[in-house]
Amino acid sequence: MSVLTIDAGTTGVTALVVGVDGTVLARGYQEFAQHFPETGWVEHVPEEIWQATLSACQSALDATPEAPTCIGITNQRETAVLWNRKRGSSPRRAIVWQDRRTAGICTELRDAGHEGRVTDITGLRLDPYFTGTKLTWMKRNDPRAWSGVESGETAIGTVDSYIIARLTGGARHCTDASNASRTLLYDIRAGRWSEEMCDLFGVPMSALPEVVPSYGVVGESVPDEFLGLRLPIAGIAGDQQAAMFGQNCYDPGHSKCTYGTGSFILVNTGQQAIAPEHGLLSTVLWQHPDGKLDYALEGSIFVTGAAVQWLRDGLGMIDTARQTEALARTVSDSGGVVFVPALTGMGAPDWDPHARGSIFGITRGTGRAHIARATLDAIAFEVRDVVEAMARASGTQLPELRVDGGASGNNLLCQIQADQLGAPVARPQVQETTALGAAFLAGLGTGVWNSTDELKHTWQLDRRFDPGARDEAGYRRWRVAVERSKGWADL
Ligand code: G3P
Repeated sequence: MSVLTIDAGTTGVTALVVGVDGTVLARGYQEFAQHFPETGWVEHVPEEIWQATLSACQSALDATPEAPTCIGITNQRETAVLWNRKRGSSPRRAIVWQDRRTAGICTELRDAGHEGRVTDITGLRLDPYFTGTKLTWMKRNDPRAWSGVESGETAIGTVDSYIIARLTGGARHCTDASNASRTLLYDIRAGRWSEEMCDLFGVPMSALPEVVPSYGVVGESVPDEFLGLRLPIAGIAGDQQAAMFGQNCYDPGHSKCTYGTGSFILVNTGQQAIAPEHGLLSTVLWQHPDGKLDYALEGSIFVTGAAVQWLRDGLGMIDTARQTEALARTVSDSGGVVFVPALTGMGAPDWDPHARGSIFGITRGTGRAHIARATLDAIAFEVRDVVEAMARASGTQLPELRVDGGASGNNLLCQIQADQLGAPVARPQVQETTALGAAFLAGLGTGVWNSTDELKHTWQLDRRFDPGARDEAGYRRWRVAVERSKGWADL
């Protein structure tokens, strides 16, 4: 038995075939285009996400004789997608979670006094990051696309529900509670869409997907649409929640940090949705088939891996992301350079959609290696800021941080991270824990595994990084640089 898992991330789609022992039997990956039509805007073409899904799955299936028995789905969260219920085609591009165009709508709602109520109901805050204001923007600025939403022809969803609609030939329009909890439209304690929030953001409830548990069969793929395969779809979760599942963070107090496009630190708070403070969010981790919800506190950092990608694609300073470590190791420190990678504004814990990226402390002696080292330092500083906010919120220190995602393979970053946290960093053998978590959910939903206890043995340590001396002066400079980068887009 094996599970096919689809991880539809921000820059590409990964497909894995995962065996009963939790090992990855085969892998496929396909990048898709990023569209930046205006400063601060980020869009995806839904059809390109779907084509990348087909291609990644085909590559994974071609690489193993194993025939999977079910499908798990995980995805970039918050991104707003519209599609025609019958045809699957989209009347406009998706607005991506990183997109800042709705900063003005957020200010307008905040000035009108809505933020307290928004946080009480959704656990989130008024920031362009979340789906709600992206839909308000479409309604105000794209009446042609929105008319289908009003008439019922067009469905609204996040990337998970779009992929499920395509897999099932339009038969299913559903999302799971972890994804719903990122939209600003979902009441995280009541466990249903909030009429009050839908009114506030101008979204008709009839256009929203049905909210289903994170594991259990919700539909079947249609062979004509999906590579000739009829398979039950049995696991769905937003990528950060799926990574918690893949990291075996099933109990209160367990936490992880995933280094992807951004970095997201979550700590399991059990069946309690804690009122968010210190720039953190309260969010649904997953919903069990009996309807019970588990929650997490989350610190969302928007740009970490994307900063390395910018060194590669924006500056042409490196050819591959992997070269960052070797380049950064050629210097003993950043030489006083501080890079604040607020390339799409700032998320947790500082939250400023008007902040922009900046590089401070450049001298005539500054070279590529110092910038590369400053990029790794910045990632570690950002994560330290969030972990310290979590310690303030919970009154306890994190005993260790489990890490995963692309950049967790960077040993220098892991060591700087441990130094900055003053706590060990533990890296598992399988670092694609997002996709793994979705596979576990789907396998639990179809009896490949019967309980989370059976999954615990799948977590194997690859390497632990113990904390050494920490660069406090560097961190102090970082905090000064963060403050100076705020509000830049407004100047
Ligand atoms: O909330 C955004 C998150 O889901 C995106 O994840 O892995 O693409 O950085 P990633």
